[in-house]
Amino acid sequence: MTQWLAGMPKAELHLHLDGSLRAPRLLQLAAKHGVSLPYKTVEEVEAAYNFSDLQSFLDLYYLGASVLRDAEDFYLLMKDYLEVCRLQNIVHCEIMVEPQTYIPQGVELSVVLEGFDKAIDEAKTGWGQSVKLILSFLRHLPEADCLAMLQTADPYRDHFCAIGLASAEKDFPPANFQTLYREAKDRGYELTAHAGEEGPPAYIRDALQLLSVSRIDHGVRAVEDDELLHQLAADRVPLTVCPLSNVRLCVYDYMSEHRILDLLEQGLCVTVNSDDPAYFGGDLLENFAALESDLAMSKEQALLLVRNGFEAAFLPSEAKIALDEQLQDYLARHP
Ligand code: ADE
Ligand code: ZN
Repeated sequence: MTQWLAGMPKAELHLHLDGSLRAPRLLQLAAKHGVSLPYKTVEEVEAAYNFSDLQSFLDLYYLGASVLRDAEDFYLLMKDYLEVCRLQNIVHCEIMVEPQTYIPQGVELSVVLEGFDKAIDEAKTGWGQSVKLILSFLRHLPEADCLAMLQTADPYRDHFCAIGLASAEKDFPPANFQTLYREAKDRGYELTAHAGEEGPPAYIRDALQLLSVSRIDHGVRAVEDDELLHQLAADRVPLTVCPLSNVRLCVYDYMSEHRILDLLEQGLCVTVNSDDPAYFGGDLLENFAALESDLAMSKEQALLLVRNGFEAAFLPSEAKIALDEQLQDYLARHP
């Protein structure tokens, strides 16, 4: 089945670009800029990626992102991920970009986007890659800082399809970001937010009600609230689930405990994503493979998950129809 899924056209909707920075590139850029890191070899980097919770991961994630300094670095980062898209037939991707992460290093948004634009243009002309960017905010920072970044992004409004909310979830509830989401809605952005990863189901409800999001990133803790599950299923609110991430960040002790297929069977619009593939041991295809090996996912379930990825995308209906036709074409050749 993994071969069948490898060739299948797929979407990825939950990917932090900084989380795709692999050890060799991390070490190369650290050396380029003379950034001192607590590891010298790829093996040492990978040995350090042993997390006990979200915060223990975020500490190394922000340290890793601190090596990104100039437009060439951002070009290489984007190019590396888009190459994964090409290899894994991720025909449409929605990538979370977090410009607040680069502020301590003094990197301007224009520099970040200069690098990204070059790589995206190459992938679009090279093999017709479909790419959208999500302007993702860091919820451990004050809302005023997020509002300042929203304004900084105004001249680049057409670069982004949506805004998102990431970083430490516990103690940083959706309620803190109501002005940010209202301002973003006024500017015409689509709205998504991380909720119910480590935080309680109430954060999912609040993201929907207080922030008016149309999609939830993670959302797996909805399983603790039956009424919420019914609402998510009835409204087909997409959950961008990241199975390997949930195990590596100890949301579940084992993949066999993951509930993604139960949610699928209950009619929720769950999708499969990699979150931070360089840190969690696999890209999109490896996330699907884990569901096959540890949860006995059927071909029908795999196909539903892929279709949900297209349904949940921030794309106009004509583009979704075109993606579905690509999928039908593949299935006709590879039933
Ligand atoms: N930033 C990068 N990965 C994240 C995750 N899994 N949860 C919250 N913020 C993140
Ligand atoms: Zn995430």
